[in-house]
Amino acid sequence: MRWLKKENHKIKNQLPVHIGIIMDGNGRWAKKRGLPRSAGHKSGANNFRKITRYCSGIGIKYLTIYAFSTENWKRPEEEVKFLMNLFEQYIKEALSDFQKENIRIIFLGDKSKFSTNLKNLIDEVEKASKTKTGMTLNIAMNYGGRDEIVKAVKSLGEEVKKGKISPEEIDEESIAGKLYTCGQPDPDLIIRPSGEYRLSNFLLWQSAYSELIFMDILWPDFSTKDLDKALNEYSSRNRRFGGI
Ligand code: IPE
Ligand code: IPE
Ligand code: MG
Repeated sequence: MRWLKKENHKIKNQLPVHIGIIMDGNGRWAKKRGLPRSAGHKSGANNFRKITRYCSGIGIKYLTIYAFSTENWKRPEEEVKFLMNLFEQYIKEALSDFQKENIRIIFLGDKSKFSTNLKNLIDEVEKASKTKTGMTLNIAMNYGGRDEIVKAVKSLGEEVKKGKISPEEIDEESIAGKLYTCGQPDPDLIIRPSGEYRLSNFLLWQSAYSELIFMDILWPDFSTKDLDKALNEYSSRNRRFGGI
């Protein structure tokens, strides 16, 4: 049951434009139930759909979901394989699903490590949803904030080398323009469920002034009610951006 409706969010006039979510706690959710970690990932993926739909419904303009980090390759081969298969399956479903829902999908991260099949699916979804005018859904996959900044710096270095720009011209705007989120507003709110209090390499540049909310609930259990709680908490925050 939604206890905070779209209208209420509007009255408060404090709905974040961009929300980031670190989907964490799938493994522990499964362990608690005596299930393999893969069952937690499956359940987490279903929840991703539910929460995405809800965000789109209440008028969130940008949602960034952290699905796989540049460090997650360290996991056992079997788990990584399962996750890659799950991504393929979900992206296929997203192709038909989100088409109807006017959601634009963009992938943030280094795609070069993915299988050809997954790369093609990613391209297909991005292309198919390019003209969508509703919420932008960023799926961060093989994403790392540091890796993203390194890539931006390299690209600017190349431009300096070619004489296209001078080192003096490099500023915050030109760096932001080389990030995967180029052209998008920074996240206003970042939510991390699972009880861990860290960013784990998520949107390091973009989170400079994001409001952070950590919740002691495992991702597969994270409900629309929990999201509403986070939105309520967000609306009570006083954002100063260094001012008074
Ligand atoms: C998040 O859940 C999913 C990914 C990082 C791919 P975890 O798999 O990290 O779950 P926990 O943190 O081990 O419970
Ligand atoms: C962060 O979760 C990455 C994703 C949710 C995709 P992790 O489970 O990898 O983070 P740590 O290892 O607890 O910091
Ligand atoms: Mg984790």
